[in-house]
Amino acid sequence: MSNKKNNLQKPPKVAIIGAGNLGVAIAKGLATSLGADIIWLCRRHLSKIEMLVKDGFRLSSDVKEAVLEADYVFFCVQPQQLPDILDELKGVLNPQKQVLISTLAGMDSDRIQALLPHPFPIIRAMPNTAVAIGQSMTCICANDQVSPQAITQVQEWFGTVGEVMHIEEEHMKAATVLAASGIAFFLRYIRAATQGGIELGFEAEEALKIATATAKGAASLLMVQGSHPESEIDKVTTPMGCTIAGLNEMEYQGLSSAVIQGLKKSFDKISSIGDS
Ligand SMILES: NC(=O)c1ccc[n+]([C@@H]2O[C@H](COP(=O)([O-])OP(=O)(O)OC[C@H]3O[C@@H](n4cnc5c(N)ncnc54)[C@H](OP(=O)(O)O)[C@@H]3O)[C@@H](O)[C@H]2O)c1
Repeated sequence: MSNKKNNLQKPPKVAIIGAGNLGVAIAKGLATSLGADIIWLCRRHLSKIEMLVKDGFRLSSDVKEAVLEADYVFFCVQPQQLPDILDELKGVLNPQKQVLISTLAGMDSDRIQALLPHPFPIIRAMPNTAVAIGQSMTCICANDQVSPQAITQVQEWFGTVGEVMHIEEEHMKAATVLAASGIAFFLRYIRAATQGGIELGFEAEEALKIATATAKGAASLLMVQGSHPESEIDKVTTPMGCTIAGLNEMEYQGLSSAVIQGLKKSFDKISSIGDS
């Protein structure tokens, strides 16, 4: 039975099951457009989020209570926690009324659907930790039960906490590697640049600040101007200069190759986790 009727009345109500790091960051982003008072936050240890009551959020440690009125139910728990939670919600979740949104890495919509009693509209969203400061790169995909309106709605919400891209589910593992793990990869480059800066004479804090601001500037050049990395590199590399000497040495040592091989290794790993 297809549910394409999930073009829901406004304003939609939201439940976030798993109000941990990601769940709370998403809730704060959603609250900027929806208001906090229609967002239920759910986790077992409520004392850890009780300070959010003053912001207007509704809190519960009972998953059934949290989802009862919700039109959109976000699942932001660890993958191994989902089966028990969905089991508890059997008979409470309603595929005619509710859209499920999973942020779980490595669990595709077929596997989530297999834990549910009826065909459900399921959206998967893969943000990264920069969601905490409203600068996530979030990729989303949807199964065939999801209405275009629901996809647009969820895209808009993730747009409040950064950039968002709607992709095919077959690319979700690659998105996890490039955007979610990608945070760690870029940070490792910044750490390496910091270590190099210290060897060149800066104090650690100075080197870190210079490396971090430079990384931000490099990314901003591409985002603001829409230019290609190589054309920006051309502007910095003068003939026989120091930049091209350093860049060519980095490539000789395998920089681009190491990055590409690392991404492929992460992809192989997430694929093997998903298969097992
Ligand atoms: N962090 C990110 O930036 C990020 C990015 C992409 C994807 N993800 C994915 O998003 C999910 C959440 O990540 P996270 O970093 O936010 O993890 P987290 O901080 O550990 O949050 C998970 C939350 O789930 C709650 N929880 C566990 N069992 C529950 C239950 N039965 N009922 C209600 N709440 C329950 C836990 O709180 P209690 O123990 O108090 O119940 C905890 O606060 C993971 O699957 C992760 O792979 C995270």
